[in-house]
Amino acid sequence: MTDVRETGWRIAETRAALAGEVAGHVRALVEAAVAARGRATLALPGGSTPAPILERLDHAGLPWDRLILTLGDERWVDADHPASNIGQLRRLLTGPAAAAAVVPLVETVATLDADAEAADRRLSALDWPLDLVWLGVGADGHTASLFPGAHYGRAIDRRNPARVMALTPQSLPTEAPFPRLTMPLASLIDARAVMLVATGLEKRALLDEALAAPGRSAYPVARLLEAAPVTIFWAE
Ligand code: 6PG
Repeated sequence: MTDVRETGWRIAETRAALAGEVAGHVRALVEAAVAARGRATLALPGGSTPAPILERLDHAGLPWDRLILTLGDERWVDADHPASNIGQLRRLLTGPAAAAAVVPLVETVATLDADAEAADRRLSALDWPLDLVWLGVGADGHTASLFPGAHYGRAIDRRNPARVMALTPQSLPTEAPFPRLTMPLASLIDARAVMLVATGLEKRALLDEALAAPGRSAYPVARLLEAAPVTIFWAE
């Protein structure tokens, strides 16, 4: 059962203010991690919501050379494909943030299973728990690439030790119709902080529903919200 007291909402007046609040939150987490352990490891999301926030973070004075960046999920495409999350990250973080170490989930597309195994090995070598897992949520209630499909049960199984697994959505999302590599739920919550950033009334209603009765909600994001405390940043 979700302890809603732990899952906190940070609601911003505008999307510009949201970017500032998220950037401030990330900066505080990163500075604490670097002070305590000398470096910080962050798993970032794909999609469109993070773009303005990452651009702001790039010039927010973070100790980028002490940061290791990876992704909570990735579309199974080459890094130079327009739909690639790591490609988007590299296109967005071109300022001081370019000094960060980047650990992709997909380097070159070979076979889905072999690429998932290679990504699992790469992420298994990171410092766990991660310092921050930053997620978004889709209009269908997916988060990371936790989509209903053949491997969904394993993806949300809290005993799944994999750091990355392959998952082909039952119905490929129109905005990114590709098989996926994703951190499974157990890894997504193996973090000192889990943050979800969303915008728009539709996603607010979806998250309210998932939080109201997480055990009854079929949304994949409800599995996350009932599994760990999540800081939700939202603006209309
Ligand atoms: C991806 C993301 C995904 C994203 C949601 C929300 O690869 O698509 O990691 O989980 O966070 O789809 O995307 P938007 O921010 O574009 O709404």
